[in-house]
Amino acid sequence: MSVKLQIENLKKKLNYHCYRYYVLDDPEISDFEYDNLFRDLQNLENKLPELITPDSPTQRVGAPPLKKFPTVEHKTPMLSLSNAMNEASIRDFDKKVKNLIKTESDIEYTVEPKLDGLAVEIIYERGVFTLGSTRGDGTRGEDVTRNIKTIKSVPLRLLPQPDLSIPPRLEVRGEIIMENRDFKNLNRKRAEQGEPPFANPRNSAAGSVRQLDPMVTAQRKLDLYFYGTGDQTGFSHKTHFEMMNTLKKLGLKINPHIVLCNNIEDSIIACREIESLRNTLPYNIDGAVIKVNSLEIQNKLGTVSRSPRWAIAYKFPPQHETTVIRDIIVQVGRTGALTPVALLAPVKVGGVEIQRATLHNQDEIDKKDICMGDSVIVERAGDVIPSVVKVVKSGRTENRRKFIMPETCPECSSKVVRFSNEAVYRCVNHNCPAILKGNLKHFASRRAMNIEGLGNKLLEQLVDKGVVGNVADLYYIPLEKWLKLDRMAVKSAKNIIDAIEKSKQAGLERLLFALGIRHVGEHTAKILVDHFGSMEKIINATRDELMNIKDVGPEVAESVVQFFNQHANISIIKRLEEAGVLMTPQNAEVDRKLEGKIFVFTGTLKNFTRQDAKKIVESMGGKVTSVVTGRTDFVVAGANPGSKLEKAENSDVQIITENEFKSLLDTYTKETG
Ligand code: IVH
Repeated sequence: MSVKLQIENLKKKLNYHCYRYYVLDDPEISDFEYDNLFRDLQNLENKLPELITPDSPTQRVGAPPLKKFPTVEHKTPMLSLSNAMNEASIRDFDKKVKNLIKTESDIEYTVEPKLDGLAVEIIYERGVFTLGSTRGDGTRGEDVTRNIKTIKSVPLRLLPQPDLSIPPRLEVRGEIIMENRDFKNLNRKRAEQGEPPFANPRNSAAGSVRQLDPMVTAQRKLDLYFYGTGDQTGFSHKTHFEMMNTLKKLGLKINPHIVLCNNIEDSIIACREIESLRNTLPYNIDGAVIKVNSLEIQNKLGTVSRSPRWAIAYKFPPQHETTVIRDIIVQVGRTGALTPVALLAPVKVGGVEIQRATLHNQDEIDKKDICMGDSVIVERAGDVIPSVVKVVKSGRTENRRKFIMPETCPECSSKVVRFSNEAVYRCVNHNCPAILKGNLKHFASRRAMNIEGLGNKLLEQLVDKGVVGNVADLYYIPLEKWLKLDRMAVKSAKNIIDAIEKSKQAGLERLLFALGIRHVGEHTAKILVDHFGSMEKIINATRDELMNIKDVGPEVAESVVQFFNQHANISIIKRLEEAGVLMTPQNAEVDRKLEGKIFVFTGTLKNFTRQDAKKIVESMGGKVTSVVTGRTDFVVAGANPGSKLEKAENSDVQIITENEFKSLLDTYTKETG
């Protein structure tokens, strides 16, 4: 088979499996198999770069940053919806529709969730993704093609179908969202980096799509649900519902909660049903959209003042509630930032009881004029830490007490400082136990040194009992000291020691991120490691050298230089090095390859001892256990396998031969050279 054909086949396969995974949430192959296909394609494309096409799955990321987004004109304007706040307005809408088309018969409608995200349009030409733009003012938006391409659920090429011809040009529209869980994670990371949090998932989705550097967008977890089309030339359907099904067949993700209703009363019931799903969905919705199903009637109805006459948004009441601030306490984070937190009289918002809300900083408190004893409106913005929207002025009593930021740190009593360019007060005592605890938690966390079993409670004990004074101390704790901690048995202590030992191989990227240097997140850590290649070179880098790196701004440069100018930090790094912590990059491919995969070995292996096989799996990020459970990914069956194989055969676990296992490791050997 020619290389060109091989490439075409691999692209087709990868596109299809991407669709199974990201759109249908029903993968047919394992991540491992997918990665292998992807690597095969990358290898072929590396050999013959002239065969790389824009719809290749390898081309989702990698475009260089822009200075400014070009403007795009929407061929068909992107409209907005008129709103109905109650059932009576929904019935009025139905009456108007009937009047306009002069009928008294029932009208068929579709009802679907109104996603709270960012509206975009994507153009597929002859089935290939060619342009992605934001709604903008409805007539002109921004060309964010390269950013939308990083969203894995968006096909770069439409799926060909035997009974469907791909339209020469298809304008599809939808909403980009960030799931609540991903929003929460992103904000947690931002807080760790001392960056301001996004207010809600919508803002974080919009902020992520409008990044000038697609690499940043690629790291944000975004998703896109399509809800309609723009120009429909060459794409003829009788109804909206039919059309949505075609979009789905073509590989475009559509919301599964769309329903077809025979009349307006059924549509109202459907709206209520969607409303009842509101708190169970992984993303935010702020209403339900009712659309006339017949496209012919839609056409007849047309639009008025930038809204279609054939659709209406039924808006849900906002997830607000009123409660009282009983007290305001101050929490100290990893960066020393003091965050005021309101302790509330417990109240249920959207079915979840709320007892605390972040007040962010003193400026926010002053701006909103918040006092202890105030009645306030609290909001849950997507399953996250609730925030105080505003004070209910009429509910104010004599008992209001003003909050004043303490002059000393509540944890270590040293004086707090407010830097001139910042809204936050900080404790700047490096030995503050709250900062140390935060640093240790970050250092051990999954995305940093990934020390399994070293949870927050244990780390707090280590600090409170004076066992550790900095992150390097973790590598010098003898077994006896672990055993002195609460409820620590020999077996768990040994497991933690093993996990700490394993973390020494995490590699420079993770280590640099784990050190918690302000403004150095995972992305920046990677950039610095790619550029300098060793810890020593990073330590000695000057401001100018740092600033000369693409994507490194003055804030990062200043922060890195300041960090390594401190003697205490250099001695921590020395002690880490003396403990055997790897100060050079770990091969990223190898590192990720078996990440999180759980193996069980059974029977005798010809080419390895069990011990060697275990070491290799672990060095590639996987784990070896002795029993087959629902979490096992692979059972490697050697000669004369035991009962584990039988157990595996009766479950969904993938069973591989020693040779298949070896072929995983062969790729590994090739990559590490
Ligand atoms: S249909 C009027 N369907 O709501 C144009 N819109 O104000 C047709 N939205 O900007 C829009 N979910 O971004 C439609 N299922 C859905 C939607 C939806 C969210 C957004 C859309 C639009 C805004 C309308």
